[in-house]
Amino acid sequence: MAQRLIKQKIRSTEILAGRLHLSGYGRGEAPVDLRLSFGCVDRCPVPWPPMTIEIVPMTRADAEAVLAFWRGHDGVGLGDSDTPGEIAAYLDRNPKMSLVARENGRIIAAVLCGHDGRRGCLYHLAVASSHRRQGLGRRLVERCIESLRLAGIPKCNVYVYGDNLGGREFWKETGFAWRSDLIMMQRRV
Ligand SMILES: CC(C)(COP(=O)(O)OP(=O)(O)OC[C@H]1O[C@@H](n2cnc3c(N)ncnc32)[C@H](O)[C@@H]1OP(=O)(O)O)[C@@H](O)C(=O)NCCC(=O)NCCS
Repeated sequence: MAQRLIKQKIRSTEILAGRLHLSGYGRGEAPVDLRLSFGCVDRCPVPWPPMTIEIVPMTRADAEAVLAFWRGHDGVGLGDSDTPGEIAAYLDRNPKMSLVARENGRIIAAVLCGHDGRRGCLYHLAVASSHRRQGLGRRLVERCIESLRLAGIPKCNVYVYGDNLGGREFWKETGFAWRSDLIMMQRRV
């Protein structure tokens, strides 16, 4: 009975960069039975208590908070289209594709993902500096790529500032190739 209740409380479990994440529990809340069920009370291969990171689709209600999050990160270029209203419209147009990651309620990563029926596009991927190089960025990208694949979209583009060397390396590592035969051009509508 207790075990069933525990399982009901866990909304998802994820192994992320070698750490066990249990959403549904705050730090130190998960009961010892749960640790036993994962066989990791004494010889836990991961830090305990686990970090509570959840990765969920971004919603309209997140728009202001993710904009504030992005504003704090070099490498994310916010422009005219980055208002809460425009972000909400983008989410409506591309439901359940953009993602936000939270740890104990605090946003630690976010990305916009969508498509025009032909090509996918990822915008504004950022991971909090405290959580970088732990596989979170890659995790978000793979989730986005999977949702594009399910939507029948065969290719995905990203825009990266040329001088963002860390960002460029990240995209290369996650399977994106630099198209040196193309340049980007833009015009106001
Ligand atoms: C780019 C960014 C999203 C990467 O997020 P992350 O969670 O640290 O990335 P991951 O841990 O999944 O990295 C996967 C791999 O990418 C490569 N990588 C990631 N960041 C890198 C960096 N700064 N320099 C070189 N390689 C990097 C590594 O090969 C890494 O694997 P490793 O850690 O095992 O060596 C993060 O650094 C960030 O938010 N930067 C600021 C915003 C930004 O520039 N966003 C890109 C907009 S185009």
